[in-house]
Amino acid sequence: MKLIRATDYQDMSRKAANIISAQIIMKPNAVIGLATGSTPLGLYAQLIDWYRKGDIDFSQVTTVNLDEYRGLPRTHDQSYWYFMHKNLFDHINIKPENVHVPNGMASAETAGAEYDALIEQAGGIDLQLLGIGSDGHIGFNEPGSAFELGTHCVDLTEKTISDNARFFASIDEVPKQAYTMGIKSIMQARKVLMVVNGVNKAEIVRQAFFGPVTPEVPASILQMHPDFTLIGDAEALSHI
Ligand code: GLP
Repeated sequence: MKLIRATDYQDMSRKAANIISAQIIMKPNAVIGLATGSTPLGLYAQLIDWYRKGDIDFSQVTTVNLDEYRGLPRTHDQSYWYFMHKNLFDHINIKPENVHVPNGMASAETAGAEYDALIEQAGGIDLQLLGIGSDGHIGFNEPGSAFELGTHCVDLTEKTISDNARFFASIDEVPKQAYTMGIKSIMQARKVLMVVNGVNKAEIVRQAFFGPVTPEVPASILQMHPDFTLIGDAEALSHI
């Protein structure tokens, strides 16, 4: 694991955007795995800025997002499809056909296998971006998730539902299930990059990356990934 210490949120965002940008410069048709949540917003804004200045070209890039709420159509303003378009895709020259987010309206029987086949056909993920949930989840792989799963349907924990309630009108509107790439899909990415900021993530960062590898802390498996980089701001790294 490579640990990169950033001073603050902006510094974390710029460092992470630099790594993604370098990946695209080195391989213009790279497959980039993307994440939602508030943590990557700064790095998406940075990528948009560099695209506008002519420094990055997304015309050959393919993206695969980690997860999507089950039951939300793409048009719902809390769907991850909507989030990604609003915060990144609508502002860069990525081809719409190269953008992939699990389909929240697909049937649970077929959604996972279809998404895994799509990733495989694209040639696998070159660089997977991740945030971390306050209970150690990555994508929507909650504590106790089997490490060997591909994309599948999950029941969200109470903690995740309450963490994400801030984006919905009320907690009752937060979907109770999601489709997520599994730990296996994430571990198969050639590079993994995690961004984390804020003091409320400090304890889970300590447990995940400086404690034992256990399904109870899903992100801890990343200690075993051959090319994993963690970029944290000073607050998120304050317990290590
Ligand atoms: C959601 C997403 C995760 C993300 C997490 C943390 O649960 N499925 O991919 O890492 O939120 O979000 P935030 O960055 O807002 O703390």
